[in-house]
Amino acid sequence: MCGIVGYVGTEQAAPILLAGLSKLEYRGYDSAGIAIRNEDTGDITVVKAKGRLKILSEKTNEGHAVPGTCGIGHTRWATHGEPSENNAHPHCTDDKSVVLVHNGIIENYQELKDKLIKSGYAFYSQTDTEIAVKLVDYYYRKTGTPLEAISRAMLRIRGSYAFGIMFHDHPGKIFAARKDSPLIIGKSQTGCLIASDVPAILDKTRNVYYIGNHEIAELSQDEIHFYNIDREEIQKEQVEIKWDAESAEKGGYEHFMLKEIHEQPRAVRDTIGAYVKDGKIDLSETGLTDEKLQEIERIYIVACGSAYHVGMVGKYVIEELADIPVEVDLASEFRYRNPKLVKNSLVVIVSQSGETADSLAALRLAKERKIPVLGIVNVVGSSIARESDYILYTYAGPEISVATTKAYSTQLIAMYLLAIQAAKVKDVISEERYAALIEELGTLPEKIQKTLDDKERIQWFASKYANAKDVFFIGRGIDYAISMEGSLKMKEISYIHSEAYAAGELKHGTISLIEDGILVVGVATQAALFEKTISNMVEVKSRGAYLMGLTTYGNYNIEDTADFAVYVPQTESFFATSLAIVPLQLMGYYVSVAKGLDVDKPRNLAKSVTVE
Ligand code: F6R
Repeated sequence: MCGIVGYVGTEQAAPILLAGLSKLEYRGYDSAGIAIRNEDTGDITVVKAKGRLKILSEKTNEGHAVPGTCGIGHTRWATHGEPSENNAHPHCTDDKSVVLVHNGIIENYQELKDKLIKSGYAFYSQTDTEIAVKLVDYYYRKTGTPLEAISRAMLRIRGSYAFGIMFHDHPGKIFAARKDSPLIIGKSQTGCLIASDVPAILDKTRNVYYIGNHEIAELSQDEIHFYNIDREEIQKEQVEIKWDAESAEKGGYEHFMLKEIHEQPRAVRDTIGAYVKDGKIDLSETGLTDEKLQEIERIYIVACGSAYHVGMVGKYVIEELADIPVEVDLASEFRYRNPKLVKNSLVVIVSQSGETADSLAALRLAKERKIPVLGIVNVVGSSIARESDYILYTYAGPEISVATTKAYSTQLIAMYLLAIQAAKVKDVISEERYAALIEELGTLPEKIQKTLDDKERIQWFASKYANAKDVFFIGRGIDYAISMEGSLKMKEISYIHSEAYAAGELKHGTISLIEDGILVVGVATQAALFEKTISNMVEVKSRGAYLMGLTTYGNYNIEDTADFAVYVPQTESFFATSLAIVPLQLMGYYVSVAKGLDVDKPRNLAKSVTVE
């Protein structure tokens, strides 16, 4: 994980780096640091602080205490070595001849460290990054040129990295290199920038370059040069970022998560609008034509966390609607279980960030096996987006809160679009059904808004249950998939132990945990399974559980069983997740707020999991 930034130009670098890092804190926040070169003295000053970025800001007087127009910065999510000032980046050689920030993991760090120790290097931290900076230094001393030093170090390093590097002998220059960790290069009015993600540089520029795997960039005040690993200069196309800076700000909400929950009607509308034209789904922009879709006989959906939960919904919807068998896998399992992938199949990788290490590895495994990959990705130009054969972008916009909400909702839309279009091209639904499904899809933004309008009841309920120790979410079919996401939202931001169970499975063991006052959330949006789920809710109630029922308007008899009922608008049963998830997101959010927790940056987590 971790976030890196760099700036070289005519402005003071430190305030720009701190502002950029504040937009990257979602990537890690256990320590932060900057290295600034003072052009008058030639010295490079490194300042680091354990803890949140604000401590570094205070230590540097908002950056003003460290003058200079060229610098690199870092916000860390610890992998090798505990969170501490010593392990914080930037890392450097003893004489600061080379200073470096890193996002990623160096897998062969021990082997490289042993070799460097034999060559006389000593180490002050427990990080893999210190090995990288000393390896670059080793080659720099041998070759005398930064480009050659970096490319030779890249050849030796196994793992993932995005590097920002300064050399004492090369004032006014930042070098950047990448493999499997995100990195963009920006060109502003006053200089050039590097960053792990777009929001970090959005108030400086919208003109960016995406640097590829095994490529190097050399930035100075007004020039950027790109090289391949053989140090041959290569040309890159400039891309304009379309997001406005405001979408990466809180815009009056107390937390990004609440803002992003409220952005769901817009995000869902934009994602539908991108692929539905004149009442028909058009996936041609993704590269997955109707002809190709028609040939698909099996689908493997592979993802992590919430994106995996989208896959679970996708399985129910695609199998039932399009009659195509679907397997859903956690990417971390799929990549190591030697999956048996059949011919005429499609692997679907779902990822908000497009950088999740396990999902990327699963993608590569599928490609090695010659199975085409459809990426459902939110971040344009990310690794998964670039390496997929077909790419269906979701239009959630930048998602800052670590707990996903709006990206999840747009991924659901992508699943519905895929299912409906596959059903059509395979001729398993009528023209009328096709038209009705698309029409209903178009009503979802308004219905999500209606669900949001009822948020005060959830807020009241959440404050009552903020001290809960355990929560169970139960449901059947799609309602089980909704429960999984509801449960994850609760535990990740509220630190309350919660579990999702297929409602029929409880009595095979877990029901022994139910005792007086335990909160059980019964999700019952699927008409065909309503009675069955109610029976399971009765079973836990009779063992003392306090029951919250979540269903659609009209199913008022849920109140005969549930102590507290929440209703969402009626919709096509396949689309129920899009509405039912909203109260569960709000519940997780309000419990976290009631407990006074850091909603947007829950402990131990980071937004983009670029380590396996
Ligand atoms: C939970 C959450 C995570 C992500 C998971 C995959 O709120 O956000 O579970 O869904 O880490 O991330 P992406 O979608 O970026 O691959």
